[in-house]
Amino acid sequence: MSNSIESTLHETRVFPPPESFVAQANVSGKAAYQALLDEADRDPNGFWGRLARENLQWSKPFTQVLDESKAPFYTWFGDGELNVSANCLDVNLVNGNADKIAIIFEADGGEVTQVTYQQLYERVCKFANALKALGYKAGDRAIIYLPMSIEAVVAMQACARLGVIHSVVFGGFSSKSLHERITDVGASLVITADAQMRGGKAIALKPAVDEALGMGGCEAVRHSIVYRRTGGDVAWDAKRDLWMHEITAKQSADCPPVPVNAEHPLFILYTSGSTGKPKGVQHSSGGYLLWAKLTMEWTFDAKPSDIFWCTADVGWVTGHSYITYGPLAAGLTQVVFEGVPTYPDAGRFWKMIQDHKVTTFYTAPTAIRSLIKASEAKASHHPKSYDLSSLRLLGSVGEPINPEAWMWYHINVGGERCPIVDTWWQTETGGHMITPLPGVTPLKPGSCTTRLPGITAAIVDETGGDVEAGHGGFLVIKRPWPSMIRAIWGDPDRYVKSYFPSELRGYYLAGDGAQCDTDGCFWIMGRIDDVLNVSGHRLGTMEVESALVAHELVAEAAVVGRPDATTGEAVVAFVVLKRSRPEGDEAIAIGKQLRDWVAKEIGPIAKPKEIRFGDNLPKTRSGKIMRRLLRVVAKGETVTQDVSTLENPAILDQLSTPV
Ligand code: PRX
Repeated sequence: MSNSIESTLHETRVFPPPESFVAQANVSGKAAYQALLDEADRDPNGFWGRLARENLQWSKPFTQVLDESKAPFYTWFGDGELNVSANCLDVNLVNGNADKIAIIFEADGGEVTQVTYQQLYERVCKFANALKALGYKAGDRAIIYLPMSIEAVVAMQACARLGVIHSVVFGGFSSKSLHERITDVGASLVITADAQMRGGKAIALKPAVDEALGMGGCEAVRHSIVYRRTGGDVAWDAKRDLWMHEITAKQSADCPPVPVNAEHPLFILYTSGSTGKPKGVQHSSGGYLLWAKLTMEWTFDAKPSDIFWCTADVGWVTGHSYITYGPLAAGLTQVVFEGVPTYPDAGRFWKMIQDHKVTTFYTAPTAIRSLIKASEAKASHHPKSYDLSSLRLLGSVGEPINPEAWMWYHINVGGERCPIVDTWWQTETGGHMITPLPGVTPLKPGSCTTRLPGITAAIVDETGGDVEAGHGGFLVIKRPWPSMIRAIWGDPDRYVKSYFPSELRGYYLAGDGAQCDTDGCFWIMGRIDDVLNVSGHRLGTMEVESALVAHELVAEAAVVGRPDATTGEAVVAFVVLKRSRPEGDEAIAIGKQLRDWVAKEIGPIAKPKEIRFGDNLPKTRSGKIMRRLLRVVAKGETVTQDVSTLENPAILDQLSTPV
């Protein structure tokens, strides 16, 4: 849980929406919000059916809205057919947006490329035709391992156009993580690039794919399609590898969209859970797209004149819903960014907002916190050194935003005039669930405020009973919603066990602890399971532990989270080696070796910030590692709890000393 939670819960400042914003908002004022809530609560099927008919184009209209007969395997709009790519691209060609800029792409080095909706449509069609010519069809799975680029959006949209199910893997993941996903999803295609640019440096991507495909179990992969990003040398397997520009060159710029069932999986995205390997979260086509589009209209108050910028990577769900699908379905112009917020300097975000006249800016608290530090260090990195007057709305996602960071964002970036939407949601929810509506909700720094219409979020106890306002409990969603996770790919039992534990009356268990105040505002307190949130990225402690114990020197490892002022949480690993406990320089050297090992096994985001060596780990007499105590020790606090059940209480002193 966040270190700021105590102060957060005493937060009393309230910021009502500016009148000028309310006057023009898509959902304007409390009465409009209440009317939507009431409609959804009174007749959920009528509500969702109306929205799905009004907002999406169906090639075959649905007659049934929700089917609960196989709960918790719900289906939505289950006899309807549509194509997601047609709803993002073709609709814009007939409604007057053909020449509108769809994407303003800014590369790491600052080069800007723009594509109109017509051009994006043509690029997607050409790539889809190339995939079709190679024999890929609806239901096949494609792994996408690409840098942030127009090509990444094109690849995802082209898959959607054919009904090919994509699974995007964040470019920061290692070949081992990539291999795990290629095999779990049963991919027959990989789409990658020679390299990606980050902070002025080229980081190779294709070698990781080559390595993953060489690990065995990937025999189903027929092709690896490569986007030439940097033009550097790459190893080439003539039987398998194809250049993206070569296979698309001669293709027709029209490719009829393949209508798929509303329940056809649009994508599978892997995310960390408390146990075992990452889970392949499976999303639908119809319900998912409906919510990606609607939340653009509601949460982000999307207007045709907006320049929308979500700074996430398409390797995460935020990049799926609020880069590849939502903004295009809403017909917006959006900025897509390849680089990092600190290159060439920490004024990069503010300069880009100024240059592209961004109106709506959506980023993560980690980025805000690191930019606060940088702006304090140098005036030219401060947002006040830039013209940010184009901004009208700000957003936050991925982790709780501490009130200090919220206030800084509000004053220095939003000029005290832009509402901030602190959006709570998850990979599994597909889109926003609890968030302010900018033309409705009074904002409280640190609270994601109220539920969206149709989303029955609540706080319950361990038996599923409602918890009173002001008391902590489990955050659940009581009724299904269209963009919810449909399954864990290949593991239906894990889906039921993870999200619908029987004691919770069939409610969806989010895995977060939270409380609600007397205004109905939610305050997220952090995960209730062994999942960490490092810089807004989800990480299972088990995954890091498994990586550590796979190292030849390591006998045992326990991983916990510790509050961190910049990254929210930091990974702390307690390690017992097979040999004697190292000290001094040796401990530092082995610590570095293990950190690099974790980066190689999972990816740099999983690197422990700190490793502490012990002769043993604190265990109960039955051999269970007491992680609760390790969390206290990791924070640098003294253990005051009863340790009489510990087999070896003295070990806590040893582990309390950082290397
Ligand atoms: O703990 C919550 C936190 O991030 C988790 C979901 O992570 P992921 O599936 O990677 O999706 C992140 C992007 C949607 C949640 O269980 N979280 C997400 N948004 C917020 C948040 N915690 C507090 N406030 C938020 N706005």
